[in-house]
Amino acid sequence: MSKSKKLPQGLGPVLIFAATLLIALGLGIGIRYLLTGSGAGGGISAPVTIGGPFTLSHPSGKEVTDKTYLGKYLLVYFGYTYCPDVCPTSLGTMAEALGKIGKDKAAKIKPIFISVDPERDTKERLADYGEAFYPGMDALTGTPEQVLAAAKQYRVYFARVKAEDAEVGYLIDHSALLYLMGPDGKFIRHFSHGTQAAEMAAALEESVK
Ligand code: NI
Repeated sequence: MSKSKKLPQGLGPVLIFAATLLIALGLGIGIRYLLTGSGAGGGISAPVTIGGPFTLSHPSGKEVTDKTYLGKYLLVYFGYTYCPDVCPTSLGTMAEALGKIGKDKAAKIKPIFISVDPERDTKERLADYGEAFYPGMDALTGTPEQVLAAAKQYRVYFARVKAEDAEVGYLIDHSALLYLMGPDGKFIRHFSHGTQAAEMAAALEESVK
């Protein structure tokens, strides 16, 4: 063995330490990968929070935030007024369900519609839309940035798609979940598109105290 290949004295333990560190780091990343479930493989999902701070505008022109609604149960739905089918169905079912529950409980619930189409959904249009579906429903929107931030809080996806009807211009694909939030602003449960009014009413009766 030539002298030049010999490790300088003291470097051996340093290398062992470095190797141990690398292995530990690798394990750490691996465990994090499993917990977050990122990547195609999935894995154990960490709990996901739904809802959180938002700033939007009310048709009255007033700015509203999540704090505006503290103390009320909320039914939160993201959509847009030009939606040909999904939004009217969801909101119609919601209104029907609210009509089926006790008046005292219904009075504790504030439905909120958040338009993901601020470009076309003017204040006037949103005011009319809200009233048409459920008197007392707040139909909100905001700047594109505010809407995107609110959607992110609620894990809502939306994206423009080309409409076949040139007059409409574009449609928006969007998540169609209705969220029930508690008076403390925390998520209670969601209703999937297609939930029947009677089923929704029963769940609301149970969840709203
Ligand atoms: Ni819709």
